[in-house]
Amino acid sequence: MARKIRLLFATPEAHPLIKTGGLGDVSGALPPALTSLGVDARILLPGYPQVLNALPLRRVRRNLSILSSEQPVNLLSGKMPDSGIPVYVIESPSLYEREGNPYLGSDGKGWADNAQRFAVFARIAASMATAQSPLRWHPDILHLNDWQTGLAAAYLAFDPGRCAKSVISIHNLAFPGTFPPHLLGELELPWHSYQMHGLEFYQYISYLKAGLFYADHITTVSPSYAQEIQQPELGAGLHGLLHDRNSDLTGILNGIDTGIWNPATDTQLEYRYSATRLAGKAKNRSALRKRLGLTDDAKIPLVGMVARLTDQKGVDLIPAMMKLLKQLPFQLAILGGGDKAIEKQLTALASSMHERLSLTLGYNEALAHQIEAGADIFLMPSRYEPCGLNQMYSMRYGTLPLVRSTGGLADTVTDATAAALHDGTATGFVFKESSAEALSECLQRAVALYAQPRAWRRVQKQAMTRDFGWEQSAKRYLELYRGLLA
Ligand code: ADP
Ligand code: GLC
Repeated sequence: MARKIRLLFATPEAHPLIKTGGLGDVSGALPPALTSLGVDARILLPGYPQVLNALPLRRVRRNLSILSSEQPVNLLSGKMPDSGIPVYVIESPSLYEREGNPYLGSDGKGWADNAQRFAVFARIAASMATAQSPLRWHPDILHLNDWQTGLAAAYLAFDPGRCAKSVISIHNLAFPGTFPPHLLGELELPWHSYQMHGLEFYQYISYLKAGLFYADHITTVSPSYAQEIQQPELGAGLHGLLHDRNSDLTGILNGIDTGIWNPATDTQLEYRYSATRLAGKAKNRSALRKRLGLTDDAKIPLVGMVARLTDQKGVDLIPAMMKLLKQLPFQLAILGGGDKAIEKQLTALASSMHERLSLTLGYNEALAHQIEAGADIFLMPSRYEPCGLNQMYSMRYGTLPLVRSTGGLADTVTDATAAALHDGTATGFVFKESSAEALSECLQRAVALYAQPRAWRRVQKQAMTRDFGWEQSAKRYLELYRGLLA
């Protein structure tokens, strides 16, 4: 039997320890799915308080000097809750032990020392994949995620002792992780790396570009997004590089954790239900409406939305949509947080129509599950969406997604056209153009179908029985690793 592939999965967040968005979900679920396929998968995380306080951890190495300008750090080891996957944690009080968001201060701006925080993280990740690893265990594959880990591909590429291949997954190309070039010496990278064919990006150092340039392979989280990022519109200035490297670029659709996101077992719900026993769904809706102060009327569909409130998510289309659809019977429940200007705009809108629109600002995992279960329609009018997980959660919960045709949304939702309704493939509603008109027209179609309970139930069942588990996608990562090691 072939030896197990050893994988180090370096990620800045992993559910259930720390999560700001879908990357946390993916990092919590993909490594265990790979373990089930026989991979020796281990996770590397920064030692945020949320991680240190949640896990029993053992110090495995002390006083590792990583960058000469930074304090030495310790390496801890433990096991992830639930999955039991081995996790290594970098202990550094000055870099990681602070309250709040892992990337942003309370002013909403990136922490002033993010360059150092994620350089140290990346350098440890890379060093673990070399002959001088601080551990006896070293990986065959170093799997990186987004800008926070990108520099590791450069460190590894310049290390003569390297003994692993590197893969970087793009979860969101819009965050380049840029820092001023004078830091190059402090980062202990060779000066010649600072060029167009390297990690220079419009006169800055880009940690993401370092990853995209130096990694052996690039993946992203849906086939459509893999194509879109090679074009100027969604390429965020990196489309040229991605196009040049397109033979090393693979789109692999994310899966969902079907243990956590299962309406038949979800402990965050008051009533559990399934595709064959749907009665609990309506009860969850009544409970949710009560909680949110919305009138409970089964004839009026409830539209839900759970998202980071940023430009990406297309929330700015909502005020105009609400105006266009004044007469249409529906209610909207939004949970989210992020951009202060968007929060303010939605707050004003919600207070002007509190009988139709409920807004909950902030991060609330229980409410996110309750909206997935209690809503009839799930709204994702994203400008771009690398994959998107919520539309898959909502299908599983019988809450039909209404999405813009972009990235992973286009790859996972089948529009309820007359033909798709007829042949039994419809799972939601899809619109193309990023405009309030196109969105409104689509919501009108959804509300019209809602008024036909039998047709609605059929689509619900189709959506609920689609397989979005991790197994298929994990197999594709495994094939990719094998190919790189062959
Ligand atoms: P992204 O990663 O771009 O934010 P995804 O759809 O991939 O989008 O994943 C978002 C994840 O974060 C989902 O699990 C969603 O439920 C969760 N989420 C987003 N905003 C909130 C919030 N305000 N409260 C609770 N969960 C949230
Ligand atoms: C990003 C993307 C989202 C994707 C998630 C996990 O945050 O915005 O579309 O689902 O990463 O890959």
